Amino acid sequence: MRDKPVLRDKKESLWRSLGDVTTAGVTFKNPILTASGTAGHGAELAPYFALSSLGAVVVKSLYPTPWPGNPAPRVHNTPSGMINAVGLQGPGIDAWIQHDLPALRAVDATVVASIWGRTVDDYAKAADQLVSSLSALAAIEVNLSCPNIEGRSAIFAHDAELSAQVMRVVVERLGPHGVAIWAKLSPNTDRILHVVESVEKAGATAVTLINTLLGMQLDISTRRATLGNGGGGLSGRAIHPVAVRTIFDVRHAFAGLPIIGVGGVSNGSDVIEMMMAGASLVQIGTATFADPRAPQKILHEASRLMGTLGATKWGDVLNAAH
Ligand SMILES: Cc1cc2nc3c(=O)[nH]c(=O)nc-3n(C[C@H](O)[C@H](O)[C@H](O)COP(=O)(O)O)c2cc1C
Repeated sequence: MRDKPVLRDKKESLWRSLGDVTTAGVTFKNPILTASGTAGHGAELAPYFALSSLGAVVVKSLYPTPWPGNPAPRVHNTPSGMINAVGLQGPGIDAWIQHDLPALRAVDATVVASIWGRTVDDYAKAADQLVSSLSALAAIEVNLSCPNIEGRSAIFAHDAELSAQVMRVVVERLGPHGVAIWAKLSPNTDRILHVVESVEKAGATAVTLINTLLGMQLDISTRRATLGNGGGGLSGRAIHPVAVRTIFDVRHAFAGLPIIGVGGVSNGSDVIEMMMAGASLVQIGTATFADPRAPQKILHEASRLMGTLGATKWGDVLNAAH
C-alpha cells in the first residue's frame, strides 16, 4: 500500500501526442530527464510534480560505499549559473537500493542509476552491486568526470584510454544483462572526439554530454574561494552553448551514436535546440534548483513549441541542424 497518492500530470496529453522516444534500445515516454546530482538520490522531487511524467529520473551518482562529499560551502551563484563542489556525497549503493530505489518505484518513476568511482575497481564494484536491481533500472549512466586517485587525480573523462578501461569493466558486468550503459563525459578537454570513440568501442551504448565546466570563484573580501573545496564545477545557463557545441560536434563525427544532452537547459527552446544539435534525450539540471518543478514545466514548454514548429513527433527535430 502506498502512503500517498501518486501525483499525475494534468497536461499529459500535451507531450503524449508527440509519442515516445527510443534511445540506445530503451523507450522513454518523452525526452525529458533530470540531470544527475540535481534531483536527489530518490523521490525528493515527488512532492512538486509527477515524477512518472518524466522520461526518467537520473539519480545522483552513487559510490559503492557511503561517501561524505566536500566541506561546506558547496554551492554558490555565478552570473547566469552556479558553481558547486558537492563532492559526490551519497549513501552508498546498498543503502540506495534499500531506501531510495523503492521510493522512486512507489511513484512510478522510470529510473536511471548513475555511478562514479575513484579507481577503475570502484566502478567494477559499483556495477556488481547493481546487478540484482537491473530489472528496476532503465539505464546506467557512468559518470567519468571524477578524479582518478591512481593517476595523479586526472579526470577519467579527460583520458581516452582510462575512460575505456572504466567502460570495459562496467560493460563486462552489466552488458550481458542487456541494460543500456551511458558514458557521461566532461567538456574540459579538446580530445572529446577521441574519448567518445574509445568509450563507444568499449561498449557504451550512448554518451551523456556534458558534465560541469571546471571553474573557481573568489570572494575579494576574504581573498579566498567561495567554495570549501576551492575550485568547483560551473553549470547553468552560462554553459548551454558549450553543451550545444559539444553535442553538435559529436553528432557530426558519430552519426549513429545516441546522445543524451545536458547543460544549461532552462526552457523548451533550449530542449529543441539540443535535439536539433543531436541529442535524443535532454536532462534538466541547475534549472531545478531555481524551481523544483522546472523539469515538468520545461517538458510542457517544449511540447507546445513543437506544435509551433510544425513538428508532430520528437524525431522531427532530432539532428535537424545537420
Ligand atoms: C549541485 C550539482 C551536483 C551535481 N552532481 C552530479 C553527479 O553526482 N553526477 C553527475 O554525473 N553530474 C553531476 N552534476 C552535473 C549535472 O548532472 C550536469 O551535467 C551539469 O550541471 C550541467 O547541466 P545543468 O547546467 O543543467 O546543471 C551536478 C551538478 C550540480 C549543479
